[in-house]
Amino acid sequence: MKFPKKTWNPVWIIIGLMVVLVIAMQFLFSYERSILGVPPDDAPYRQTEQTTEARVSDLLARMTLEEKIGQMALVEKNSVHDIDDIATYGIGAMLSGAGAKPAMNTVTGWRDMVAEFVAVSRTSRLGIPVLYGADAIHGHSNVPGATIFPHAIGLGASGDELLVEHIARVTAKELAATGIYWTYSPNLDLPQDIRWGRTYETFSDDPVLAAKLGAAFVRGTEQPFSNATGSAFVISTPKHFIGAGGMVWGSSSNNDFYIDQGTTPPDETLLRDVYLPPFKAAVDAGAGSLMVGLNSWGEEKLSANHYLITDVLKGELGFTGFVVSDWYGVYEIPGGNYEAAITAINAGIDVVMLPFEYKEFITNVSRAVKLGRIDEARIDDAVRRILTAKFELGLFDMPPNTELPTVGSNEDRVLAREAVAKSLVLLKDDANVLPIQTDVTHIRVAGSAADNVGLQSGAWTIEWQGIDGNWLPGSTSILKGIQDRALEGVRVEYNILGTFEAGEKADLGIAIVGEKPYAEGWGDSALPTLSKEDTQAIAKLKASSKKLLVIIVSGRPLIITDDIASWDAVVAAWLPGTEGGGVADVLYGDVPFTGKLPLPWPRSVSQLPVLPNGNTADGTTLLFPRYAGLK
Ligand code: BGC
Repeated sequence: MKFPKKTWNPVWIIIGLMVVLVIAMQFLFSYERSILGVPPDDAPYRQTEQTTEARVSDLLARMTLEEKIGQMALVEKNSVHDIDDIATYGIGAMLSGAGAKPAMNTVTGWRDMVAEFVAVSRTSRLGIPVLYGADAIHGHSNVPGATIFPHAIGLGASGDELLVEHIARVTAKELAATGIYWTYSPNLDLPQDIRWGRTYETFSDDPVLAAKLGAAFVRGTEQPFSNATGSAFVISTPKHFIGAGGMVWGSSSNNDFYIDQGTTPPDETLLRDVYLPPFKAAVDAGAGSLMVGLNSWGEEKLSANHYLITDVLKGELGFTGFVVSDWYGVYEIPGGNYEAAITAINAGIDVVMLPFEYKEFITNVSRAVKLGRIDEARIDDAVRRILTAKFELGLFDMPPNTELPTVGSNEDRVLAREAVAKSLVLLKDDANVLPIQTDVTHIRVAGSAADNVGLQSGAWTIEWQGIDGNWLPGSTSILKGIQDRALEGVRVEYNILGTFEAGEKADLGIAIVGEKPYAEGWGDSALPTLSKEDTQAIAKLKASSKKLLVIIVSGRPLIITDDIASWDAVVAAWLPGTEGGGVADVLYGDVPFTGKLPLPWPRSVSQLPVLPNGNTADGTTLLFPRYAGLK
């Protein structure tokens, strides 16, 4: 008998081969995962229904010493030359130092850059997401198109905690729209000396006001909101713990600076009575992280101070978040990088803003642990704090950020404009210049800050040291705001130098003058005052106007004692940001003046430092005391 010849259907053969291939690949994949030690999909730390504590404990128990130390490293994004290092070394956190931007500096450019770092971090053995941080100092201020709010000193002048909470919330949403869930704000330093280049980053020299607004900022930042990834929030970083703002002029440890990164006198009563309350308020408000300053307390750099970081902050104040050191701050501790890292971690620093050499850091710290110089329990405590934050933020469970970024919405700009109006302080109005009346039909405007959004925004705007000009999308210069608001038929002339045609005087001259942007110690100045160009512009404007209003756009009170007598009206506008229209709102009386000086305005530098109780160094009276401000 002949059997019919069996023919194999090629389709079945292909299907069969594919099934075998898939099974083999799965086997190889799980084999590879198991030799690489990749925990299974059902590992407790991967389960959203587990408590944060359970997830942290499970993950921590699976980590090697090196992986733990990697989590403690905070690396500047441009220091990562091979992007795979993020996974290879299990880098815990990254930042855009000094506003370091993506190749394409747009909102989507930021979102894509951060998303790529996060995606790479998730390919590590344990898949721990990297935490990305940015200095959203006054809005998400590195990103063109974001709403730039007044710098903190202007918010201090407003004294309005609801406003501050609202601004922090909007900023958090704009950060999250670019995939960033960690901001290095608010600044709770208390500036006693206006020669310090960081005065404007602070709310006030008054601990009570700084505490009130600082806590509001923390609440606004950390309050959950819903977005495309579900519910999200951003971790705030009150800084710079502690005593910053009280450094002595000339004591800077940085040869390029005078007071920034200097020495705060080691007076514990002063530290506790004045500098601690804002941080206590921020901790009580639930701050997720806290940054230690680059200043010294007496002889010792803050990052080395076990008593203040561990005993006072973590112990007495009960801070359960993580403590991050400032830029290269750990390596400012004498003794070389190895000893410095040991000292700082033992002092209680949990995350080290290296911000460059992560490989050396991991090697050094793991050696120190193996030699018993750092107890592994200290490392576990640090990593537990870091992982807790990452789980609470939802970073492990977040789908890739697919949300279309929305920054700089109209609503946010309206809020910023309101903040500008509330931050203005009327210091003098002897000739009833304000509000501007309808019989004022000819206005002349002059000065370096009149038509320059870069200048009115100050530093930490796109660039660390700020920008020049009017090129930020959707922004309004103070001049433009005045032009937009002036009634029909009113002639508004502008010349930066105050050069106008001879002839009839204008009804009102408005000099809008101020400081060029500066950040950190680069703004330390032995004599903060107006530039020669601005002083000359004021003089020329005065000669060609019946009345003179001077608007000072600056990060701090300027020494104007010799000039102010000849000005009819003076407004301190601080650094208002992109919504210059808010200034016109108040000049025209649409919104009343409500701002008050958030810090004393000295007559001369010999009055510095001004003590928290308002006493000047030379015992003379201030030009204006703290909280001065006319209505
Ligand atoms: C500043 C910090 C800032 C950090 C990161 C440092 O130079 O002191 O305030 O958060 O840089 O940019």
